[in-house]
Amino acid sequence: MRLTDCHNIADFRRLAKQRLPWPVFDYIDGAADDELTKARNTAAFDQVDLVPNVLAGVAEIDPSVTVMGRKSALPLILSPTALQRVFHWQGERAVARAAQKFGLWFGISSLATVSIEEIGAMGDNPKMFQLYVHKDKGLNRSMIERCQAAKFDAIALTVDTIVGGKRERCLRSGFSSPPRFTPSSALSYAIKPRWALDYLLREKFALPNLDTHVTAGTGEAISIQGYFTEMLDQSMDWNMVASIREQWGGTFCLKGVMSVADARRAVEIGADAIMISNHGGRQLDGSRAPFDQLTEIVDAVGGQIEVICDGGVRRGTHVLKALAAGATCASGGRLYLYALAAAGQPGVERAIGIFAEEIERDMKLMGVTRVDQLTRERLRWR
Ligand code: FNR
Ligand code: LAC
Repeated sequence: MRLTDCHNIADFRRLAKQRLPWPVFDYIDGAADDELTKARNTAAFDQVDLVPNVLAGVAEIDPSVTVMGRKSALPLILSPTALQRVFHWQGERAVARAAQKFGLWFGISSLATVSIEEIGAMGDNPKMFQLYVHKDKGLNRSMIERCQAAKFDAIALTVDTIVGGKRERCLRSGFSSPPRFTPSSALSYAIKPRWALDYLLREKFALPNLDTHVTAGTGEAISIQGYFTEMLDQSMDWNMVASIREQWGGTFCLKGVMSVADARRAVEIGADAIMISNHGGRQLDGSRAPFDQLTEIVDAVGGQIEVICDGGVRRGTHVLKALAAGATCASGGRLYLYALAAAGQPGVERAIGIFAEEIERDMKLMGVTRVDQLTRERLRWR
């Protein structure tokens, strides 16, 4: 299978599976417990049908939105995801360049393999830093100050990982950060020579935003599940988050809000946006899908805070359904991660290009020229 055989995200998933050692593929593709929520995240979009208008004169359309104060050429954010140079040696650099090419927001994780400074200096498209609140308060302060100096456009504080989700595929494979080549797992890496040579011979693995303060994850291999449980501050509460927002002083988003009550709290502390998200099903299996939860939250806080629908997005129609249900825009991780793993920057560019084409085609077939024309009466729940 080659890159030119990839015509949708499922194709990229197949190519990624072909190219990655299975422990790495399973880290991306896997989720918590029985992976019910991951499946529901995408299936939720199938429960709603679109009602098109015709003869609307759609020769010229504008798929752009403004989110968190910045223009985005598409109503789609590339969500922050960790360890990207483990998936492909170009890692976050490839995603940053693809996002810049298409004029999209993208985010880097606290567990990014490329530094805040380097990403901050790349292009002028909007960038968010995803903050994990660590027990080490000096580390939290360091990351915020580095983002201020690097002029990031927003901080997205992740709130749904107070402990690690039970990632059973990673428990079976022993996947860790950095990857360990144990006798049982070495073969799985050795049979993917292109991946192995890139990983071993190119730039050494690092977590440059964390390794100034901690060795877990770099000097000392640890599972992601273990990293969350050992390193993140489980006492984090609304007061702490409000003070972090003050400390940052810039555009602020809470990533992982799922309840109306929490959406209202986010408004009260002055957050600019919330990402309705269950972390791609990687945390609390059995929690509701963001798209299922969307209308309830938009009805409660719409107009007071921007609402981003994160997770399960694999098609342009998924993005349009989220917008019609009231989201400011959609976001996702695997929608570009499979493509990164499959083919680096050309892969991510192809995947985003497919989304751009599908969103444009779907808007025209829906009879809309701007995304604000997508309203709830264009949907029918089954
Ligand atoms: C993630 N996600 C994530 N979220 C976050 O706040 N910080 C992180 O470091 C990561 N890392 C990460 C790695 C991988 C491999 C995946 C698949 C996901 C969650 C991510 O931001 C997003 O919420 C989900 O990916 C959304 O679900 P979809 O789009 O992957 O279905
Ligand atoms: C994950 C973390 C890194 O989901 O957010 O793997």
